[in-house]
Amino acid sequence: MLLLTAVVWDIRYKSAVVRDTRAGMHIKVERLSTSGNRPRTVRNMKREEWSSTLGFILASVGSAVGIGNIWRFPYVVGANGGGAFLVPYLISVLLFGLPLMVLELAIGRSTGTSVVSAFRSIRQRFSAAGLVIVAIVSLILGYYLVITSWVLAYALSFTLNLPMDFGAFTDSYLPLIFFLLAGLAVFVTVRSGVREGIERASRYLIPVLVMILLFLVAFSLTQPGAVEGVGFYLSPDYSRLTDPGVWIAAFGQAFFSLSVGMGILLTYGSYLKGGDLFRNASIIVVADMLIAVLAGLMIFPLVFTAGLDPAAGVNLAFIALPSAFTEIRFGLVLGALFFWMLFAAALTSAVSMLEVPVAALIDSYGYPRKRATLLVFAAVMLLGLPSALSYTALKLEVFGTPFLDLADYAFGTIGLIVAGLIISIVGGWFMGRTRICAEIGGCGWQQTVYMALIRYGVPAILLITLIGSFFRVTE
Ligand code: PHE
Repeated sequence: MLLLTAVVWDIRYKSAVVRDTRAGMHIKVERLSTSGNRPRTVRNMKREEWSSTLGFILASVGSAVGIGNIWRFPYVVGANGGGAFLVPYLISVLLFGLPLMVLELAIGRSTGTSVVSAFRSIRQRFSAAGLVIVAIVSLILGYYLVITSWVLAYALSFTLNLPMDFGAFTDSYLPLIFFLLAGLAVFVTVRSGVREGIERASRYLIPVLVMILLFLVAFSLTQPGAVEGVGFYLSPDYSRLTDPGVWIAAFGQAFFSLSVGMGILLTYGSYLKGGDLFRNASIIVVADMLIAVLAGLMIFPLVFTAGLDPAAGVNLAFIALPSAFTEIRFGLVLGALFFWMLFAAALTSAVSMLEVPVAALIDSYGYPRKRATLLVFAAVMLLGLPSALSYTALKLEVFGTPFLDLADYAFGTIGLIVAGLIISIVGGWFMGRTRICAEIGGCGWQQTVYMALIRYGVPAILLITLIGSFFRVTE
């Protein structure tokens, strides 16, 4: 007999989702009709799972490695003291990013469900906090898809040898079509399920991404501008370490790049069975850092070889680099490889964001995956539309700032930190030490240190980053 621990009636679909937490099973039972007939069908909806630990790690690396590593990290390093930036970055990743990642995985695996229902199972009233996180991820995804769609446009333009001018492109309505295409690619992947969609996409895309990156790094380092580029990128300016802005930039970049504090790893953790969470999280973190550092080694030599401005900041990926590719030998092939790689990275990150609201609908309301994905996809496209329109002929702006830039600040910077705070507080203070210990291998002194970090260190750093970001101390 199954131990029925929760019954969620979903009147709309005339069904109930009966959850057996012990076996992690979801059973969908058709509701008894009023005429008193026996249930017509009993469908067994076993909760989805990764096919292996490797599959889970690849999917999580796919989530972490995104535009943030390949495009944002190099220019943030360039703008914040070069090699010296690696000091605060390493500290923030290892001391705060990694513990928060382990906490999220622990909440997910322990509750066996996604963010809203996981929070509800910790305290009934926390489900609202879960919904806030779902909203923030959906809003981030909205504008992230716009950037992803530009990447797709460049990838196609290099592949088909149709030169693209960023200004002319965004002045047309063409970006809207690419926005839809990028959204569809994410939709199709998530719709196919955890194993068949998310895991499979990462299994193929991550190894390809790494190979392309290594090839591009090797090529870049043989270019005439290599020494100068690497010098600019990595020569440390330690005097910058006294600037709090540099530290805040490091904290912000670390949380964004690792995809922590968004309920993503919580959701991914809920599809995970066994395994050492610290070990797995460390692999994800190291992979994310390595890819970011390698991306810089690839970009700066190219920028210097083409004689471009290395401090081009936000414009680096979409204006400086494409023109660098047109200047150098084999530029067309290299450009195509670069933008397809960036697209693969962005796609697997966007997929992980879409999975958060989708899983919430499935777990909390008993929606079938396909219906949930369609609904969320439609909502996200609507949420992202203002951002998409802000870089078209319509130039949707708020007080002179393009809507997309505003969304990046409001949701991708402030929202992300707020979500991280919520998770660290709910998990660290309310889930219970014993329950966390059970997930991270006992309650020794290491776990005591860990709990202190989670309860005090991480929220404190997030709060400092929040205040700093409010005053835009960062670049
Ligand atoms: N980590 C991703 C990147 O580096 C972006 C991301 C942020 C993904 C937040 C999910 C959540 O691009």
